[in-house]
Amino acid sequence: MSAAPGHPKQARSEGSPVTDAVLRAENVVAGYARDLPIVHGVSLDVRAGEILVVLGPNGAGKSTLVKSLAGVVPKFGGRVMLAGQDITTTPAHRLAAAGVGFVPQNANVFTSLTVHENLRVGGYLLKAELKQRLDEAYARFPDLAARRAHAGHALSGGQRQMLAMARALMTAPRLLLLDEPSAGLSPLMVSEVFRQVRQIADSGIAVLMVEQNVKAGLRIADRGLILVTGRVAHEGPARALQDDPVVGELYLGRHTQHAPASGIEEGAA
Ligand SMILES: Nc1ncnc2c1ncn2[C@@H]1O[C@H](COP(=O)(O)OP(=O)(O)O)[C@@H](O)[C@H]1O
Ligand SMILES: [Mg+2]
Repeated sequence: MSAAPGHPKQARSEGSPVTDAVLRAENVVAGYARDLPIVHGVSLDVRAGEILVVLGPNGAGKSTLVKSLAGVVPKFGGRVMLAGQDITTTPAHRLAAAGVGFVPQNANVFTSLTVHENLRVGGYLLKAELKQRLDEAYARFPDLAARRAHAGHALSGGQRQMLAMARALMTAPRLLLLDEPSAGLSPLMVSEVFRQVRQIADSGIAVLMVEQNVKAGLRIADRGLILVTGRVAHEGPARALQDDPVVGELYLGRHTQHAPASGIEEGAA
């Protein structure tokens, strides 16, 4: 998205690269084999304090996109900047120190380790700050504080997601990448996880979150992006996407007034 001439943001950053975004991805091409990319030239940015939700059908490439940003899936093209620094080729193990926290979709906690041990693993880079970050994690997630000696496998799905987020926050990232933190959770736990995600963003962290449920995702996010077969099909402020008739019809099950009634659907009823 290019700012129009005279746009205040452009005027403010004139003469220097635009540093507004914590994360900026430009034309990222990524996948598991160079001759078979899954993500076909995706551009996006996320600012501090903001939630960008990445939506899209199953198999659209959401996880592949996030994994490529986290450095665990190779990029075959494009550029990724973190607060103005080029991290396109930074390996996954260096990204934590660079300020990127990543919570993968699956296997995101060590189930044989306790809550406390998981957090210590998350903070393995830390020295003096370890104690303070542990205190912060337990203050943010009281449910975890009450279960610090419990093994990961003894936690509920929601508690596990909390632990995965807490673990990723141990290094005080400026960018948090979350791959479907709501997957498999009860509606009540989804609300709780989303409430935490909102608070994390409100604390000044840039959050990129993958979500399958378009309606729920747009409700919590500031901006949204709908990925279809590895390409951005729609993007914009969450409110604008919610009100977009095409998005409404395709993803929110909303029928516009003048849309011809589908004879099949109605006749089948
Ligand atoms: N490890 C892998 N190796 C090869 N192909 C994969 C791998 N993981 C996912 N894919 C393929 O990439 C495509 C996108 O998958 P994914 O990024 O998981 O989609 P989403 O997260 O949107 O459901 C799918 O066609 C899937 O089969
Ligand atoms: Mg996925």
